[in-house]
Amino acid sequence: MSMLPAILGGEPLRSQPFPKRRTMGAAEKEAALAVLDTDCLSGFLGAPGPHFDGGEQVRGFEAEWARMTGTPHALSFNSLTTALTAAMGAIGIEPGDEVICPPYTMSASATAALFYGGVPVFADIDPETFCIDPASVAARITPRTRAVVAVHLFGHPADMDALLALCEPRGIAVIEDAAQAPGCRYRGRSVGSLGTVGGFSLNYHKHIHTGEGGMMTTRDPAIARRLSLIRNHGENAVAADAADADLAGTIGSNYRLTEIQAAIGRAQVPRLEGILARRRALAAHLTGRLRGLPGIEPAVTKPGCEHGFYIYPIRYYADQTGLPRGRFVRAVAAELPTPTGWETTPLAEGYVKPLYLAPVYQRRIALVRSGFPFNLSTGVDYRKGLCPVTERAYEHTLLVTPLVREPLTERDIDDFADAIEKVLAHAGEIRAVDASESGSTPFTPTQAAGFAGVR
Ligand SMILES: Cc1ncc(COP(=O)(O)O)c(C=O)c1O
Repeated sequence: MSMLPAILGGEPLRSQPFPKRRTMGAAEKEAALAVLDTDCLSGFLGAPGPHFDGGEQVRGFEAEWARMTGTPHALSFNSLTTALTAAMGAIGIEPGDEVICPPYTMSASATAALFYGGVPVFADIDPETFCIDPASVAARITPRTRAVVAVHLFGHPADMDALLALCEPRGIAVIEDAAQAPGCRYRGRSVGSLGTVGGFSLNYHKHIHTGEGGMMTTRDPAIARRLSLIRNHGENAVAADAADADLAGTIGSNYRLTEIQAAIGRAQVPRLEGILARRRALAAHLTGRLRGLPGIEPAVTKPGCEHGFYIYPIRYYADQTGLPRGRFVRAVAAELPTPTGWETTPLAEGYVKPLYLAPVYQRRIALVRSGFPFNLSTGVDYRKGLCPVTERAYEHTLLVTPLVREPLTERDIDDFADAIEKVLAHAGEIRAVDASESGSTPFTPTQAAGFAGVR
């Protein structure tokens, strides 16, 4: 085999495509067909009575999720986006309240607050875990702070002890966004069970899924009740509910999961531990291969944390490798099969663009032209430079790969690591050639990163 790098015309290390994930099996098929046989595809009615909280599959799925996460209440939603929005209502976010969140996450972690008039305030991230940095949160707390969104990014738990120590004495709610970390534990407890509420995504790309869907957990029965009202046209049920003295935040929407989705979800739950074990084994293998390579720092798992490896982050230092990050990514991609989607994209640069740089924050227009709710909180800052650690990760140092997943094997990971080593060994020659000669793939690294973030 030619050792000339593929990006310079040599033979690629591998042409056989990386295998795609297969998520639906006999159990899911049987569960979905059994629901079809009942002819009841949704058990919800938006009126007081036994059907207000959904049908048999929805309630069964929720009970199993509550057990899995060790929380007394789990409520299903048709996405985590809608679940996070409902959570803002359920915890009582009011116009002008400030909600601190990281800028390095999927957009809904921040926009959920806007629907109730909350104003997102961005705190920087930890350079090793990419989760929100409690020291930066502390610096952003004001008398108007009502909640902090702790995103367990890429599957690594956020520093919950430090965040809870900051928030609980001040009466600030902690919303865990565990979209990318189902089944992961922090100091022995499931993520999603530690804060005021915890949210999980069940969209197609997640460890386990129902096509689209979400789950919200809480220990607080009053919040659980408000979540259920917001999920299902609460205005129709609340009048008959003597316990609901506080009407604020109880008008609802239709954020309901269907019976088929819930039945599929119940078949998926038992798969989660195996999926996590496989991802952790592949990640450990990749870490072993990357450790010691110049300019490359493998993923970090902090003590007391379990990482879910939704995607595997790598820190990259161009000053040590001698290759600009984009050129490195294209050179690695050239050694490997053409991606068929983001899950088979070997490497992507950065993750999502820091959220505060998006037009919604730059122009401060979200819901209506008047600028509400941004116009209620004039001190909030969205300038470039606001979160330097995030900006550095996005622009320079972060690489992510989704290849650390089932059904890939250690041999697949070896091909990926071999490609990285080969490119590093030829960094000087590759640097000398113009980037425009490097060709393109159906999913450019940047698109892949955006896709991973959005979904
Ligand atoms: C961190 C994070 N939060 C929220 C969401 C939103 O989840 P959903 O797609 O279920 O609405 C996602 C989805 O990718 C996510 O990754």
